[in-house]
Amino acid sequence: MNDRRKRILKELNLAPVWRTKPTYSNQDELPPPEWFEHKNPILHPCSSSDSSSASDITQMDWELLKSTVSSCIACPLNQTRTHTVFGVGDEHADWLFIGEGPGAREDATGEPFVGQAGKLLDRMLAAIKLQRGDRVYITNIVKCRPPNNRNPTPHEAKQCEPYLARQIQLIRPRLIVALGKVAAQNLLQSNDSISILRGKLHDYSGTPLIVTYHPAYLLRALSEKAKAWQDLCFAVSIMESLK
Ligand code: URA
Repeated sequence: MNDRRKRILKELNLAPVWRTKPTYSNQDELPPPEWFEHKNPILHPCSSSDSSSASDITQMDWELLKSTVSSCIACPLNQTRTHTVFGVGDEHADWLFIGEGPGAREDATGEPFVGQAGKLLDRMLAAIKLQRGDRVYITNIVKCRPPNNRNPTPHEAKQCEPYLARQIQLIRPRLIVALGKVAAQNLLQSNDSISILRGKLHDYSGTPLIVTYHPAYLLRALSEKAKAWQDLCFAVSIMESLK
């Protein structure tokens, strides 16, 4: 209230003016408890203006997509990461290999599959006459390292999914190879075990997809390498049939 108005009200014996505090007739109208408990309002990353919506992401070119991922705060993994791990390779690859999420070495370097599992992946690629960067792109379901190498949560995978979907749209691979259970189940929206999912031709939004074991699992379960070799041969036969 300005001074002039206060003076007039006083002269009319109508001051001071008392206003009642807002009342809340039921629980739903109460301000959320967080506003009482925290000095500063909590900004939920997913609703903050810093996060791009899934519909924006579908329009992004490589450059914008990369920079958006590098500053992403859409899930709690941003708080513990050192680097985001976007993906690496031929941006017009025929083959797209998708793992689960970065480990410690990947988090430190920003590049996918650079640890022991990555070395085995390189040998798997070489076995079918492929190499990183040459007709091959490698990325993960989540772009930030889950602490202690735990599996990404469904929420974390969901927040990252628009980035992966846009990478796939831009690359337009002829075949996707899902490496391990986490990648396979997320890409196929399935709870089936890897033994059920491998050996079959699946579809991801119109792109053929096959499933094989994760190289980190193969390092522990050497006897499964023969099955992984079968999967790679199956992948090659699919790729040849697509020519
Ligand atoms: N395991 C994955 O799934 N991805 C990586 O980048 C490294 C290890």
